[in-house]
Amino acid sequence: MSQQIENILHENRRFSPSDAFRRASRMGDEAEYQAMYQCSIDDPDGFWGEVARELPWIRPFERVLDWSKAPVASWFDGGQLNASAVCLDQHADGERANKVAIHWEGEPGDARSFTYRELRMEVARFANVLKSRGIGKGDRVAIYMPMIPELAMAVLACARIGAIHSVVFGGFSAQALRDRIEDTGCNAVICADGGWRRGSVLPLKQEVDKSLEGIDHVHTVLVVRRTENEVEWNSERDVWLHEALESVSDSCVPEAMESEDVLFLLYTSGSTGKPKGIMHTTGGYMVGAYLSTRMVFDLQEDDVYWCTADVGWITGHSYIIYGPLANGATIVMYEGAPNAPAEDRFWDICERLGVTVFYTAPTAIRAFMKWGDEHVQKHDLSKLRLLGTVGEPINPEAWTWYHRVVGGERCPIVDTWWQTETGGIMLTPLPGCTDTKPGSATRPFFGVDACILNEEGQVLGPNQGGLLALRKPWPSMLRGIWGDEQRFKDTYWSKWPDGWTYFAGDGARQDEDGYFWVLGRVDDVINVSGHRLSTMEVESSLVAHEAVVEAAVVGRPDDLTGEAIVAFVTTLTGIDGNDDVRAALIEHVAEQIGKLARPQEIRFTDALPKTRSGKIMRRLLRDVAAGRESNQDMSTIEDAGVLERLRLTDGQK
Ligand code: WT7
Repeated sequence: MSQQIENILHENRRFSPSDAFRRASRMGDEAEYQAMYQCSIDDPDGFWGEVARELPWIRPFERVLDWSKAPVASWFDGGQLNASAVCLDQHADGERANKVAIHWEGEPGDARSFTYRELRMEVARFANVLKSRGIGKGDRVAIYMPMIPELAMAVLACARIGAIHSVVFGGFSAQALRDRIEDTGCNAVICADGGWRRGSVLPLKQEVDKSLEGIDHVHTVLVVRRTENEVEWNSERDVWLHEALESVSDSCVPEAMESEDVLFLLYTSGSTGKPKGIMHTTGGYMVGAYLSTRMVFDLQEDDVYWCTADVGWITGHSYIIYGPLANGATIVMYEGAPNAPAEDRFWDICERLGVTVFYTAPTAIRAFMKWGDEHVQKHDLSKLRLLGTVGEPINPEAWTWYHRVVGGERCPIVDTWWQTETGGIMLTPLPGCTDTKPGSATRPFFGVDACILNEEGQVLGPNQGGLLALRKPWPSMLRGIWGDEQRFKDTYWSKWPDGWTYFAGDGARQDEDGYFWVLGRVDDVINVSGHRLSTMEVESSLVAHEAVVEAAVVGRPDDLTGEAIVAFVTTLTGIDGNDDVRAALIEHVAEQIGKLARPQEIRFTDALPKTRSGKIMRRLLRDVAAGRESNQDMSTIEDAGVLERLRLTDGQK
């Protein structure tokens, strides 16, 4: 594996929280932690039942867990609640009514803040607009927006009326949006005219128009006015939010949802096939998001909490919206790029808003590191008390830089491992009591029974690399893949014969202290800047181009993005693999999937290395892409000459 992962293997420094942090934290005592963790494993019903009762249920649940239909879990049966009421009403009607829920800042420098009472009112009005368009419980709504407050409002408005939201990251292309809209069969799309990114407008409405060509199940496109760029208008279908808001009331009773009613779908890539609509339900997801936010980020009443993810990813769902708001926290949302107008934008925001808890991704940390310490040091970050990271393994160099330069050596770092599918954080330090080791996500969260298994399902001992597995259901686990139960079973629950051990798709080891070190994906999934892309999706996009006969895509270690995409492409006879074709292919992938899927390098080849049965040998290509000697088994290769020729093309960009 990569250099970065090699480094992790030799890392053995330890960092302990300071006594001051420990004393003030929610969980500062190791013995207490041990007892609580043990209880969560020995008596999950008792443990989760107690946590769940802290939420405002509309009707109490009768049973904590029903695992009899494994791998589909049922949590908190009989209970009814509404996720938007959990996030808003309990605070708006209580002591937090005038506490700031959201501090938002646009890229051009405009800013808006909403108290819990104001946010509830905005969400209620938004929800009433959706209702006025005939949208209700069980309907799917796609959301394709920039990071503006209306994005959070759209999500919460759907939750309020029981509509199932499917947020699509605003960086995805029209084609990717279209695939997701078709798969959900949604009848409404919420978007904005555009969003600001490094001073220019991302024309989101235009992308939505393209994505809907020929689709007849979408009757409403609700458009938020943000950038005021020209947009085309279909007066039967398109509705300006600001106009529709004029005629609705500002109260909306939250729909009573069954605990297992679907709250949202979120699409994520797998190694094969189209993206999977990961399905999360209401009760369990909210309980998981609530407890993990509280404990992992050690939330205190006066914290100013900033998770820099986009709401288009699961991190934004669980740790910008649902978890923090369920806890009545003050959150920060920022629309634009971290280097707009300058490389200190994040630190400027931290200083001005007094951010205390900051959660970001390794790829961002590496960019900050590259830009230089001075951008951080220009700002007073003394309010920061806790840092977090998520999305991919963090290399110890980036970890220690983050600790020293951003955290002033006083802030613990929580390296949190989890997935779209897990809904919430699974492996993580608890900042007041866990000693951290740079590069390790440390220990399982409450109720998480994690272990390392080999292919045969045997538990591996200390420092043996294997497959990361979860042996117990947890409240925020996925309940399925939208419209494809078989794929849900095949992908996550069929690695081992029992049918109820969760296969995460990550390689990992546990060290002698039981700490987990996640090494990366074991399937054909590439993690670019903390986002999963399947090799297969990028390959199908390349092959769809008229110049291409065959393509194989692999990940290569990259200093900034963790992994970068390298494509091996065979062109049609008569078409030369030259720079023009290369540029056209890169553009083509950006069009079809989005800019984040653009190959960093394309190598043209007359053939791909294959097994005798015709399978592309991606493992070999990974070595070629990384410029490494291969120690892979070559006995099955059909034409060894192919590999030699490929190595010779090295260096072409
Ligand atoms: C995959 C999940 C969970 C939100 C962001 C990504 C990798 C995630 C870590 C971490 C090592 C990590 C894994 C995982 N990953 N966090 N702290 N250390 N690897 O969500 O797109 O569902 O991707 O990201 O490979 O399986 P996602």
